[in-house]
Amino acid sequence: MFTLRFLLAVLHLFALAIGLAAVYGRGRALRGLKDATGLGGVFHADNWYGVAAVTWILTGLLRAFGGLEKGTEYYLESHWFVGKLTLFGLVLVLELKPMITLIRWRMQLRKGLTPDLSSAPRLARLTFAQVPLLVLMVLMAAAMARGL
Ligand code: HEM
Repeated sequence: MFTLRFLLAVLHLFALAIGLAAVYGRGRALRGLKDATGLGGVFHADNWYGVAAVTWILTGLLRAFGGLEKGTEYYLESHWFVGKLTLFGLVLVLELKPMITLIRWRMQLRKGLTPDLSSAPRLARLTFAQVPLLVLMVLMAAAMARGL
């Protein structure tokens, strides 16, 4: 039991480091996008952001509801936990447009087509808008973990 609990806590924190670096990197790559030659950098950061998101969700849900930490009731009664997941929901809403557009760009490139990159500045803004929400989630997570 110690090993799984420990492993999930470590993975959850690694996801934080990867996720923050990837979301910032993707924002910069999108903001600096001039033509399709810059898409490699966008997709690279986006792939890592995807890895972080899946890791956050899987390890987070197991920690909250898998009986490995303080138990389901503790988290459901914690306004920090509810606040943290509300912010996460907001991040997912902001992420919808960039996620769908980058999937479309990948498919167009695979078909040998050149994607219309005119929405890149807007995708960069939607990406950077997620950063303060993720940072706020860290503050809430630390308060939640300590029962503040
Ligand atoms: C579905 C999404 C998520 C769920 C269900 C979730 C759940 C949890 C749980 C249960 C803990 C353990 C708290 C404790 O020790 O009692 C935790 C810790 C933590 N979470 Fe999440 N989490 C999620 C997403 C995230 C995200 C996106 C971030 C970063 C932005 C994050 C940052 C942290 C941090 C930094 C801790 C460690 C807190 C500490 O020990 O000081 N979590 N999370």
